[in-house]
Formats: sequence, C-alpha cells, structure tokens
Amino acid sequence: MTSYLPDKKEAPRRRTVLVTGGSRGIGSQIVRRLAERNIAVGATYNSSPERAQALAEEFGDHVAPIRYQLSSTDSAEQAVQAMVRQFGHLDGVVVNAGLWKGGRIDKVSHDDWWSVIEANISSLAQLTRAVLPELRKSDAPSIVLISSVVGLIGHAGDTAYGSAKAAMVGFGRSLAKELGRDGIRVNILAPGFVDTDMTSAVPEGAREKIHAETLMGRFGTADEIAKAAVFLAEDATYCTGTVLSVDGGWSL
Ligand SMILES: NC(=O)c1ccc[n+]([C@@H]2O[C@H](COP(=O)([O-])OP(=O)(O)OC[C@H]3O[C@@H](n4cnc5c(N)ncnc54)[C@H](OP(=O)(O)O)[C@@H]3O)[C@@H](O)[C@H]2O)c1
Repeated sequence: MTSYLPDKKEAPRRRTVLVTGGSRGIGSQIVRRLAERNIAVGATYNSSPERAQALAEEFGDHVAPIRYQLSSTDSAEQAVQAMVRQFGHLDGVVVNAGLWKGGRIDKVSHDDWWSVIEANISSLAQLTRAVLPELRKSDAPSIVLISSVVGLIGHAGDTAYGSAKAAMVGFGRSLAKELGRDGIRVNILAPGFVDTDMTSAVPEGAREKIHAETLMGRFGTADEIAKAAVFLAEDATYCTGTVLSVDGGWSL
C-alpha cells in the first residue's frame, strides 16, 4: 500500500567533545563556546564538581559533568566510558586540564618537579590511548592540546612547567604524524598569560612586568583562548600539527 506519510528522517548526529579541566578557567569557557554551537560537551572536573554541575545547569543536556583525575591511571578510560554512556559517541577532545608549580631549578623540590611532569605529560599518553578507539569511529575527529608559550620560549622560574609544556608540543606533533592518515587532526594551542585561578597568585610586580613585555599590554581572557581552541577543534579542517600561539604578542 502506498504511504502518504513523509519519510522518517533521522535527527542529525550531534557532535560531541570531551574537555578536560572543563570546570574552571580556560576549560569552562571552551565548554561554553562549544555548547553554544549545539555541540554536546563532557566537562571534566576533579576538585570542583559544583562548577561543572553549574555549567550543566546553564546548558541543559548539552553539557555533562564527568569526573577525571590527571594522575590516576584508570581515570581516562572511565571518563571516556562516561562520555559514551552520556552521548553515545566521541568526536573530539580538548586536553586542557593542567597543573602549574613554579620555582627556579635550584629551589624546585623533586616532588614538585615530578608532580608537574606527571600531571601534564604522563596523563597525556593515557588519555590519548583511551580516546582513540572512539575517535576512530568519528567522521571528523580532532584533538587539541593546551600547551603554553612558556614551553616554546621559556620563562625563568618555570623549568618544570616549561619542560612539560614543551613536551606537549613534541607529543602533539608526533601524534599528528601518527594519526594524520587516519583523518584525525591534532593541533596545539600555546596561550600566553591568561587571567584565571592559575595566574591569580602572580605578584603585582611580576604582573606589571609581563604587561610591559606583552604587545597588547595585558593578560588574555579565558574566552580569548577558548575561541582559538574551538577554531582548532572544529573549524581548522586543514590544520594538523599546527602550534598556534595566542599570547598578545608576548613571545614575539
Ligand atoms: N592561565 C594561564 O595563564 C595559562 C597560560 C598558558 C597555558 N595555560 C594552560 O591552560 C590550561 C588551563 O589553565 P587555567 O588557567 O584555566 O587553569 P585553572 O584555572 O587552574 O583550571 C585548571 C583546570 O584543570 C583541572 N585540574 C587541575 N588539576 C587537576 C587534576 N589533578 N586532575 C584533573 N583535573 C585537574 C581543574 O579542575 P578542578 O577545579 O575540578 O580540580 C580546572 O578545571 C592548563 O593546561 C594550563 O597549563 C594556562
């Protein structure tokens, strides 16, 4: 019998992105910018579940709070499972959660040194292994790593953090070469100094010095970094292995 009912059309598949450290600072702005584009976002938290929950309330079913701890071996796997349970699939990841501890080389303790390397670098391999099986199923997969210009040009008092952020660049570019033929883009974003909790302890004198060294004369905002992260994650379809500095000209 002829049916006069219109063909049933499947709803378009919603893109999904996991943002680590999505609870605060730069990460929470990346979550907002993605959710505003109707992308379903997993916003990870560690010590601030209430902030991730507030984002979920702000954006309804576009944002899901997901627990993730940088230095725990099982955490990456569990976060990816939670993401897939919540949204069904995974198209992208923004590796943003990070740890800063400063100190000149003769002052930084062995424990602090290793905690910065562990949190920023060892976690990267675990998370990448955990997301890859899901990303391989996506038709437009992408990975963005949030490094720092400190990893590109160095900064006194930041040997541990600078080492970790430089290693992220080497990791990301190598990963881009490993995954490019599979259609998985990997890009690296290197922010300059940004007003967040991470930089709230920068003393006034040091802050003024950085302002003076920065062509734009100020710290960046979390949203200025988020816009660049979303560009790399979603719009930069012919970029892979790119390192994009967003630093108001500080590194020039
Ligand atoms: N701010 C800057 O000037 C600047 C400059 C260059 C690069 N960056 C990089 O940008 C990224 C975000 O920085 P931000 O300034 O937004 O930092 P932030 O305000 O200190 O926020 C850090 C985020 O990472 C999460 N996080 C911290 N430790 C964690 C852990 N052990 N396990 C899991 N998650 C953890 C936090 O989650 P909870 O609150 O839930 O614990 C929070 O969401 C970092 O990778 C940072 O190195 C920052």
